Amino acid sequence: MKTVKSVRDLRAAVAEARAEGKQICLVPTMGNLHAGHAALVAKAAQRTDFVVASIFVNPLQFGPSEDLDTYPRTLLADQEKLFEAGCNLLFTPDVEEMYPNGLDGQTRVRVAGVSEGLCGASRPGHFEGVATAVSKLFNMVQPDLAIFGQKDYQQLAVIRTLVRDLNMPIQIIGEQTVRADDGLALSSRNGYLTPEQRAAAPLLYRTLKEIAAAVQAGERDYAKLIAAAQEQHSAAGFRPDYLEIRESNSLRPAQTDDHQLVILVAAFIGNTRLIDNLVVDLNTPG
Ligand code: PAF
Repeated sequence: MKTVKSVRDLRAAVAEARAEGKQICLVPTMGNLHAGHAALVAKAAQRTDFVVASIFVNPLQFGPSEDLDTYPRTLLADQEKLFEAGCNLLFTPDVEEMYPNGLDGQTRVRVAGVSEGLCGASRPGHFEGVATAVSKLFNMVQPDLAIFGQKDYQQLAVIRTLVRDLNMPIQIIGEQTVRADDGLALSSRNGYLTPEQRAAAPLLYRTLKEIAAAVQAGERDYAKLIAAAQEQHSAAGFRPDYLEIRESNSLRPAQTDDHQLVILVAAFIGNTRLIDNLVVDLNTPG
Protein backbone atom coordinates (compact mmCIF):
# COMPACT_ATOMS: atom_id res chain seq x y z
CA MET A 1 0.00 0.00 0.00
CA LYS A 2 1.37 3.34 -1.09
CA THR A 3 0.82 6.54 0.94
CA VAL A 4 0.72 9.88 -0.90
CA LYS A 5 0.29 13.38 0.51
CA SER A 6 -0.16 15.53 -2.60
CA VAL A 7 -3.06 15.74 -5.04
CA ARG A 8 -0.54 15.38 -7.83
CA ASP A 9 0.82 12.05 -6.55
CA LEU A 10 -2.71 10.88 -5.77
CA ARG A 11 -3.85 11.59 -9.33
CA ALA A 12 -0.77 9.88 -10.81
CA ALA A 13 -1.35 6.71 -8.75
CA VAL A 14 -5.09 6.63 -9.55
CA ALA A 15 -4.38 7.22 -13.26
CA GLU A 16 -2.02 4.23 -13.26
CA ALA A 17 -4.71 2.01 -11.75
CA ARG A 18 -7.28 3.31 -14.26
CA ALA A 19 -4.88 2.64 -17.15
CA GLU A 20 -4.79 -0.99 -15.94
CA GLY A 21 -8.58 -1.05 -16.29
CA LYS A 22 -9.23 -1.10 -12.55
CA GLN A 23 -12.42 0.10 -10.90
CA ILE A 24 -11.75 2.58 -8.13
CA CYS A 25 -13.44 2.82 -4.74
CA LEU A 26 -12.85 5.66 -2.28
CA VAL A 27 -13.22 5.35 1.50
CA PRO A 28 -12.91 8.82 3.05
CA THR A 29 -11.99 8.90 6.76
CA MET A 30 -10.58 11.17 9.43
CA GLY A 31 -8.24 8.44 10.72
CA ASN A 32 -8.06 6.92 14.22
CA LEU A 33 -9.47 3.90 12.52
CA HIS A 34 -11.46 1.12 14.17
CA ALA A 35 -13.12 -2.11 13.03
CA GLY A 36 -15.97 -0.10 11.45
CA HIS A 37 -13.53 1.60 9.08
CA ALA A 38 -11.80 -1.72 8.38
CA ALA A 39 -15.21 -3.14 7.37
CA LEU A 40 -15.68 -0.25 4.91
CA VAL A 41 -12.30 -0.93 3.32
CA ALA A 42 -12.90 -4.69 3.22
CA LYS A 43 -16.27 -4.07 1.50
CA ALA A 44 -14.53 -1.74 -0.95
CA ALA A 45 -11.91 -4.39 -1.70
CA GLN A 46 -14.66 -6.95 -2.36
CA ARG A 47 -16.41 -4.65 -4.80
CA THR A 48 -13.55 -3.07 -6.74
CA ASP A 49 -9.95 -3.74 -7.76
CA PHE A 50 -8.39 -0.57 -6.38
CA VAL A 51 -9.23 0.88 -2.98
CA VAL A 52 -8.21 4.42 -2.13
CA ALA A 53 -8.62 5.54 1.50
CA SER A 54 -8.13 9.09 2.68
CA ILE A 55 -7.25 10.33 6.14
CA PHE A 56 -7.91 14.02 6.63
CA VAL A 57 -9.04 15.64 9.87
CA ASN A 58 -11.13 18.27 8.15
CA PRO A 59 -11.07 21.60 10.02
CA LEU A 60 -14.06 22.88 8.01
CA GLN A 61 -16.42 20.41 9.68
CA PHE A 62 -15.50 21.20 13.31
CA GLY A 63 -17.22 23.97 15.27
CA PRO A 64 -15.10 26.46 17.25
CA SER A 65 -15.69 24.65 20.57
CA GLU A 66 -15.28 21.15 19.14
CA ASP A 67 -12.39 18.66 19.29
CA LEU A 68 -10.37 19.54 16.15
CA ASP A 69 -7.12 20.00 18.11
CA THR A 70 -7.50 16.90 20.25
CA TYR A 71 -8.92 14.61 17.55
CA PRO A 72 -6.58 11.57 17.68
CA ARG A 73 -3.98 11.37 14.90
CA THR A 74 -2.74 7.75 14.72
CA LEU A 75 -1.22 7.43 11.25
CA LEU A 76 1.08 4.43 11.79
CA ALA A 77 -1.61 2.26 13.36
CA ASP A 78 -4.09 3.44 10.70
CA GLN A 79 -1.74 2.48 7.87
CA GLU A 80 -1.41 -1.02 9.30
CA LYS A 81 -5.19 -1.46 9.60
CA LEU A 82 -5.80 -0.14 6.09
CA PHE A 83 -3.18 -2.42 4.59
CA GLU A 84 -4.63 -5.45 6.39
CA ALA A 85 -8.14 -4.58 5.21
CA GLY A 86 -7.04 -4.46 1.56
CA CYS A 87 -6.40 -0.77 0.86
CA ASN A 88 -4.17 -0.06 -2.16
CA LEU A 89 -3.53 3.66 -1.86
CA LEU A 90 -3.73 6.03 1.11
CA PHE A 91 -4.10 9.78 0.66
CA THR A 92 -3.07 11.89 3.68
CA PRO A 93 -3.17 15.53 2.61
CA ASP A 94 -2.38 18.30 5.07
CA VAL A 95 -4.66 21.30 5.49
CA GLU A 96 -2.65 23.41 3.01
CA GLU A 97 -2.94 20.71 0.35
CA MET A 98 -6.72 20.51 0.78
CA TYR A 99 -7.33 24.22 1.28
CA PRO A 100 -4.46 26.11 -0.42
CA ASN A 101 -6.39 29.40 -0.30
CA GLY A 102 -7.09 29.05 3.42
CA LEU A 103 -10.40 28.07 5.01
CA ASP A 104 -11.99 31.45 4.36
CA GLY A 105 -10.88 31.41 0.72
CA GLN A 106 -12.35 27.99 0.03
CA THR A 107 -15.45 27.61 -2.17
CA ARG A 108 -18.04 25.75 -0.12
CA VAL A 109 -20.68 23.18 -0.96
CA ARG A 110 -23.99 23.51 0.89
CA VAL A 111 -26.48 20.69 0.51
CA ALA A 112 -30.08 21.89 0.91
CA GLY A 113 -32.78 20.06 2.87
CA VAL A 114 -31.22 16.99 4.43
CA SER A 115 -28.40 19.06 5.99
CA GLU A 116 -30.91 20.90 8.14
CA GLY A 117 -32.08 19.75 11.59
CA LEU A 118 -30.58 16.92 13.67
CA CYS A 119 -26.75 17.22 13.58
CA GLY A 120 -27.14 20.16 11.16
CA ALA A 121 -28.93 22.10 13.89
CA SER A 122 -26.57 21.14 16.73
CA ARG A 123 -23.41 21.60 14.67
CA PRO A 124 -23.85 24.69 12.47
CA GLY A 125 -21.61 24.53 9.39
CA HIS A 126 -20.72 20.88 9.99
CA PHE A 127 -22.35 19.45 6.87
CA GLU A 128 -21.08 22.29 4.71
CA GLY A 129 -17.59 21.30 5.87
CA VAL A 130 -18.26 17.61 5.18
CA ALA A 131 -19.82 18.30 1.76
CA THR A 132 -16.93 20.58 0.76
CA ALA A 133 -14.21 18.11 1.76
CA VAL A 134 -16.01 15.12 0.26
CA SER A 135 -16.68 16.99 -3.02
CA LYS A 136 -13.00 17.83 -3.26
CA LEU A 137 -11.98 14.24 -2.54
CA PHE A 138 -14.45 13.01 -5.16
CA ASN A 139 -12.99 15.38 -7.74
CA MET A 140 -9.42 14.48 -6.81
CA VAL A 141 -9.93 10.71 -6.99
CA GLN A 142 -12.90 10.47 -9.38
CA PRO A 143 -13.87 7.07 -7.98
CA ASP A 144 -16.51 4.78 -9.43
CA LEU A 145 -17.78 4.02 -5.94
CA ALA A 146 -17.46 5.53 -2.48
CA ILE A 147 -18.33 3.84 0.81
CA PHE A 148 -19.49 5.51 4.04
CA GLY A 149 -20.71 4.13 7.38
CA GLN A 150 -24.40 4.26 8.22
CA LYS A 151 -23.58 5.33 11.76
CA ASP A 152 -23.41 8.85 10.34
CA TYR A 153 -26.86 8.44 8.82
CA GLN A 154 -27.51 12.11 8.08
CA GLN A 155 -24.01 12.50 6.62
CA LEU A 156 -24.74 9.61 4.25
CA ALA A 157 -28.01 11.31 3.20
CA VAL A 158 -26.11 14.58 2.64
CA ILE A 159 -23.53 12.81 0.45
CA ARG A 160 -26.18 10.94 -1.57
CA THR A 161 -27.95 14.27 -2.18
CA LEU A 162 -24.71 16.03 -3.08
CA VAL A 163 -23.81 13.42 -5.68
CA ARG A 164 -27.32 13.51 -7.15
CA ASP A 165 -27.62 17.31 -7.19
CA LEU A 166 -24.15 17.91 -8.65
CA ASN A 167 -24.44 15.05 -11.18
CA MET A 168 -21.37 13.24 -9.94
CA PRO A 169 -21.11 9.78 -11.57
CA ILE A 170 -20.24 8.03 -8.31
CA GLN A 171 -22.16 5.20 -6.70
CA ILE A 172 -22.55 5.78 -2.96
CA ILE A 173 -22.67 2.72 -0.72
CA GLY A 174 -23.80 2.86 2.91
CA GLU A 175 -22.28 0.16 5.08
CA GLN A 176 -23.86 -1.21 8.28
CA THR A 177 -22.72 0.16 11.62
CA VAL A 178 -20.22 -2.08 13.42
CA ARG A 179 -20.98 -2.43 17.13
CA ALA A 180 -19.16 -3.59 20.24
CA ASP A 181 -20.55 -6.75 21.90
CA ASP A 182 -22.67 -4.59 24.22
CA GLY A 183 -24.23 -2.74 21.27
CA LEU A 184 -22.27 0.53 21.38
CA ALA A 185 -21.65 1.77 17.83
CA LEU A 186 -17.91 1.90 17.14
CA SER A 187 -16.69 5.49 16.88
CA SER A 188 -13.35 7.21 16.97
CA ARG A 189 -14.77 9.34 19.79
CA ASN A 190 -15.48 6.32 22.06
CA GLY A 191 -11.82 6.59 23.07
CA TYR A 192 -12.68 9.80 24.95
CA LEU A 193 -14.99 7.94 27.37
CA THR A 194 -14.00 7.18 30.97
CA PRO A 195 -14.68 3.55 32.08
CA GLU A 196 -17.91 4.71 33.79
CA GLN A 197 -19.08 6.60 30.71
CA ARG A 198 -18.17 3.65 28.49
CA ALA A 199 -20.28 1.38 30.73
CA ALA A 200 -23.27 3.74 30.41
CA ALA A 201 -22.92 4.38 26.66
CA PRO A 202 -24.69 1.22 25.30
CA LEU A 203 -27.95 2.61 26.72
CA LEU A 204 -28.35 4.72 23.59
CA TYR A 205 -28.63 1.69 21.31
CA ARG A 206 -30.78 -0.19 23.84
CA THR A 207 -33.33 2.61 23.85
CA LEU A 208 -33.27 2.81 20.03
CA LYS A 209 -34.11 -0.90 19.98
CA GLU A 210 -36.89 -0.40 22.57
CA ILE A 211 -38.45 2.38 20.48
CA ALA A 212 -38.13 0.26 17.32
CA ALA A 213 -39.82 -2.70 19.03
CA ALA A 214 -42.68 -0.50 20.27
CA VAL A 215 -43.20 0.99 16.79
CA GLN A 216 -43.08 -2.49 15.22
CA ALA A 217 -45.73 -3.55 17.77
CA GLY A 218 -48.03 -0.75 16.57
CA GLU A 219 -47.29 2.19 18.90
CA ARG A 220 -47.67 5.46 16.98
CA ASP A 221 -47.41 7.96 19.84
CA TYR A 222 -43.85 8.88 18.88
CA ALA A 223 -43.68 11.80 21.32
CA LYS A 224 -44.41 9.48 24.22
CA LEU A 225 -41.74 6.97 23.14
CA ILE A 226 -39.17 9.74 22.73
CA ALA A 227 -39.97 11.32 26.10
CA ALA A 228 -39.64 7.96 27.90
CA ALA A 229 -36.26 7.26 26.25
CA GLN A 230 -34.97 10.79 26.96
CA GLU A 231 -35.88 10.26 30.61
CA GLN A 232 -33.80 7.08 30.68
CA HIS A 233 -30.88 8.88 29.03
CA SER A 234 -30.99 11.77 31.51
CA ALA A 235 -31.24 9.38 34.47
CA ALA A 236 -28.09 7.59 33.22
CA GLY A 237 -26.14 10.86 33.06
CA PHE A 238 -26.56 11.75 29.37
CA ARG A 239 -27.26 15.30 28.27
CA PRO A 240 -29.73 14.83 25.42
CA ASP A 241 -29.05 16.63 22.14
CA TYR A 242 -31.78 15.13 19.95
CA LEU A 243 -33.79 11.95 19.68
CA GLU A 244 -36.12 11.86 16.70
CA ILE A 245 -38.07 9.53 14.45
CA ARG A 246 -37.78 10.51 10.79
CA GLU A 247 -38.79 9.09 7.43
CA SER A 248 -35.66 7.16 6.47
CA ASN A 249 -35.20 8.41 2.87
CA SER A 250 -36.16 12.08 3.04
CA LEU A 251 -35.29 12.57 6.74
CA ARG A 252 -38.46 14.60 7.21
CA PRO A 253 -40.27 14.11 10.56
CA ALA A 254 -42.10 10.78 10.53
CA GLN A 255 -45.85 10.67 9.95
CA THR A 256 -47.84 7.90 11.58
CA ASP A 257 -48.50 6.26 8.19
CA ASP A 258 -44.81 6.17 7.11
CA HIS A 259 -43.36 2.68 6.79
CA GLN A 260 -39.68 3.45 6.33
CA LEU A 261 -38.39 5.05 9.51
CA VAL A 262 -35.10 5.86 11.13
CA ILE A 263 -34.67 6.69 14.80
CA LEU A 264 -31.73 9.02 15.33
CA VAL A 265 -30.06 9.99 18.57
CA ALA A 266 -27.30 12.34 19.66
CA ALA A 267 -26.39 12.79 23.30
CA PHE A 268 -23.48 14.03 25.37
CA ILE A 269 -21.89 11.97 28.08
CA GLY A 270 -19.41 14.23 29.82
CA ASN A 271 -17.91 16.27 26.99
CA THR A 272 -18.26 13.49 24.43
CA ARG A 273 -21.07 13.63 21.93
CA LEU A 274 -22.23 10.23 20.72
CA ILE A 275 -24.60 9.56 17.83
CA ASP A 276 -26.42 6.44 16.72
CA ASN A 277 -29.43 5.43 14.68
CA LEU A 278 -31.66 2.48 13.85
CA VAL A 279 -33.65 1.95 10.67
CA VAL A 280 -37.14 0.50 11.14
CA ASP A 281 -38.85 -0.97 8.10
CA LEU A 282 -42.50 -1.56 8.98
CA ASN A 283 -42.94 -3.62 5.81
CA THR A 284 -40.63 -6.26 7.31
CA PRO A 285 -41.51 -7.91 10.64
CA GLY A 286 -39.14 -6.74 13.43
O1 PAF B 1 -17.16 10.52 8.47
C1 PAF B 1 -16.04 11.07 8.43
O2 PAF B 1 -15.04 10.53 8.92
C2 PAF B 1 -15.93 12.45 7.80
O3 PAF B 1 -17.06 13.22 8.06
C3 PAF B 1 -15.61 12.41 6.30
C4 PAF B 1 -16.74 11.74 5.52
C5 PAF B 1 -14.32 11.67 6.07
C6 PAF B 1 -15.47 13.84 5.73
O4 PAF B 1 -14.44 14.54 6.33
